[in-house]
Amino acid sequence: MKVLNYIDGRWVSSVSNQFVPIVNPANGECIGEVTISNEQDVEQAVLAAKRAQKAWALVPAPKRAEVLYKVGMLLQERKEQMARLLTMEMGKVIEEARGEVQEGIDMAFYMAGEGRRLFGDTTPSELPNKFAMSVRAPIGVVGLITPWNFPIAIATWKAFPAIVTGNAVVWKPALETPIMAQQLAQIFEEAGLPNGVFNVVHGRGSVVGEALVEHRDVKVISFTGSNEVGRRIAEMCGRHLKKVSLEMGGKNAIIVMDDADIALAVEAIIWSAFGTSGQRCTACSRVIVHEHVKKQVEERLLAAISTLTVGNGLEEGVKVGPVINQDALQKIHHYVQIGKNEGATLLAGGYMLQDEPYKGGFYYAPTLFTNVTPMMRIAREEIFGPVTSIISVRSLEEAIEVNNSVDYGLSSAIFTRDIHRAFTAMRDFDTGIVYVNAGTTGAEIHLPFGGTKGTGNGHRDSGVAALDVFTEWKSIYVDY
Ligand code: NAD
Ligand code: ALA
Repeated sequence: MKVLNYIDGRWVSSVSNQFVPIVNPANGECIGEVTISNEQDVEQAVLAAKRAQKAWALVPAPKRAEVLYKVGMLLQERKEQMARLLTMEMGKVIEEARGEVQEGIDMAFYMAGEGRRLFGDTTPSELPNKFAMSVRAPIGVVGLITPWNFPIAIATWKAFPAIVTGNAVVWKPALETPIMAQQLAQIFEEAGLPNGVFNVVHGRGSVVGEALVEHRDVKVISFTGSNEVGRRIAEMCGRHLKKVSLEMGGKNAIIVMDDADIALAVEAIIWSAFGTSGQRCTACSRVIVHEHVKKQVEERLLAAISTLTVGNGLEEGVKVGPVINQDALQKIHHYVQIGKNEGATLLAGGYMLQDEPYKGGFYYAPTLFTNVTPMMRIAREEIFGPVTSIISVRSLEEAIEVNNSVDYGLSSAIFTRDIHRAFTAMRDFDTGIVYVNAGTTGAEIHLPFGGTKGTGNGHRDSGVAALDVFTEWKSIYVDY
């Protein structure tokens, strides 16, 4: 499979005509190659987007929405095929891949609905014979930069609101997952989106990503990825006074109080910590447990971990797939060594799986630490792998303090049967997303998605809040 750029409605190799392999993390096999672009390719894509955007902005929003509706229908038709490709490309197990494509379908229909509801305001003027109103105006060409861990869902969270509001898109997907980008571009093509409204340029972040961020005609950057890259992009955008939305990492916690339904909490911890092999921004990488139930939670988690089958996500019964590549494997293992050196107790896992049947793939055993303290690096830094840590506390107040003590603020959960404790956590968690009696993963597309502190810069993906990233408020006064 050869993955090309999609510029102005045409499938083209990069100017340099260079390609790199696309690797299946389940077995290390090359499943295709993707073109590697440079600044000249970005220039062509931005030019095409700039030309197309003017006409697209004049298409009535409900008509723009009709294209998204068709996109939703096509995604629905191709759900299984795309889920299988997604598993082959980035490793998540097939059930999760289906769930991810479903997020894209939901987003298409949700944003198609928004096309009929791009409401502004009318406001009584202070003066007679004056009409005052505000409308959402498209911004122009928007640049999307996305990670590999949700290669289709995150693209739809950004591209669909951008397009329905009358912008044109240049998207730089992660180099690890170009096949999902190709699938989405094909669907836009078949749905009848005019040429140039949606463009894809593949390549390295330091080249294609930076060229997009630096381009004078790209008016908004919507980025999802690591904190390190997000900060760099923020600095560049700051220099150009460019609007930028940043969705970055997490260090998400599940709090288990002494009155919790422990079985329910343990099930949630397992899926939030080890689902997508812990490679979710929302992954539960801290379990903050009331000391009275610590032993019970440890025992039940150990029992549950022992039943998890690790393997190729396309195989029946596999619950935990590979991680994305060799570098990720090394990074995860390095953090496990840090945890051991910091004095945490390793209860499960802590090693790579490299012998048959794992040979060639990038597998790490689901790993559980206990006796972790809040200041340890494994309790503060994003590991992005199947590793979670138990931290013991004596009260709800202490649990909330530990929860809030990290530099990230994406998703937190509490398990309790006490409504006062639940509402206190809802009020006091310093995170963008809060769950009560559910794990830290599984956010749906109808609510804003994003976080506080090192996770984001105040913008949101998904939900109606996403429209704010891709529109400017225009206030209009009419004297009559
Ligand atoms: P990454 O930051 O390495 O890469 C993300 C994207 O940025 C890629 O497309 C990459 O090519 C590009 N990029 C890299 N360097 C760049 C540069 N100098 N200029 C412009 N673009 C550049 O992240 P990743 O490894 O792909 O993804 C994992 C990270 O994403 C984790 O930290 C995870 O928590 C985060 N994430 C956050 C959310 C959220 O919504 N908060 C969702 C998913 C993933
Ligand atoms: N919807 C995904 C989650 O919440 C990103 O984990």
